[in-house]
Amino acid sequence: MHQQPIGIFDSGFGGLTVFKSIVEQLPGYDYIYMGDNARAPYGNRSFNTIHQYTWECVQWLFEQGCPLVILACNTASAKALRTIQQQDLKSGYPDKRVLGVIRPTAEVIGDYSQTKEIGVLGTKGTVQSGSYLLEIQNFFPDIKVHQQACPLWVPLIENGEYDQPGADYFVKLYLDQIMAQSQNIDTILLACTHYPLIQQKIEAQLPANIKVVAQGDIVAKSLVDYLQRHPEIESKLTKNGVNKFYTTTDDTADFDHHASLFFSAPVKSTFISANDLVKC
Ligand code: DGL
Repeated sequence: MHQQPIGIFDSGFGGLTVFKSIVEQLPGYDYIYMGDNARAPYGNRSFNTIHQYTWECVQWLFEQGCPLVILACNTASAKALRTIQQQDLKSGYPDKRVLGVIRPTAEVIGDYSQTKEIGVLGTKGTVQSGSYLLEIQNFFPDIKVHQQACPLWVPLIENGEYDQPGADYFVKLYLDQIMAQSQNIDTILLACTHYPLIQQKIEAQLPANIKVVAQGDIVAKSLVDYLQRHPEIESKLTKNGVNKFYTTTDDTADFDHHASLFFSAPVKSTFISANDLVKC
C-alpha cells in the first residue's frame, strides 16, 4: 500500500517547531517534512514569489502521496493559502486539503489576554498582509492587536546565530518597538514558526507578567480536532509512524544538525532540488 503521509511545509527550519507538537499530539501517523531552505527566508519576498514557491512545494508533497498538507509557516499561510485553497486545489487537486497556521491561532489567542491587547511578532510578509488583524478581529472583536515585523530574526535563526550573544541586540531591537506601541500589551504571539528558537531570549527581555505564546501546540490541537471532524481525510492517512525529512539545500548535514535542535530529536534528511520541484 502506498504511503499517504501528512505533509508539513515550511520555508526552512521553522515548521519543525510545529511538526514537533503535531507528532506529540498525533503519534503513529506517517509524515513528510519539506523545508525550502535553499530559497528561505520567504518573509521579505513578494506575494507572487511566496505563492509560487509554496505551491511548488505543496504539489511535490501531493506527488509523494500526501492527502493533507499543513503550511507550518505564517508567511506562506498569509500570502499563499487563500489562492491555493480557492484556485489551485479546485483546478488540479480537488481531493487534496491544505491548512495553515493563522486561523487556528487567531481562534484562541484572545483567551490568553487579560488586558485585551496583544502584540503580534512576524515576518514583514505576515505583518503587511494584515491577516492576523483580520482573523483575530473575527474571533475577538474586543481585542486590540499591535504588530511588529522582525525581518532580521529569521536570517539569524536560519544561519545558526540565534544562540550567540550578538543575537540579544537584535532580539531587543524589535521587542522595544512592539512594547513602545502600548504599555497594556500582556500577550506576545510568536507569529512566525522560527521564533520559538529564540523564545527564551525573548522572555528574558520582557517583563515577567507578559505571556509569550508559541503556535506549535495550538496548531497541533487544531489538527487533532480537524481530523476528528473530517473522517474522509483521516481514513486515507497511513499510520506506520514513519517521519521523512526533505530539504532543498544540498547541505543536508547542516540541515540535519540545525533541524535536530528545532525538532528535539535526530533528523536525517534527503536533498530535493528546487529545480526539480518546478517540473512536477
Ligand atoms: N517560518 C516562517 C513563518 O512562520 C517564515 C520564515 C521565512 O521568512 O522564510 O512565517
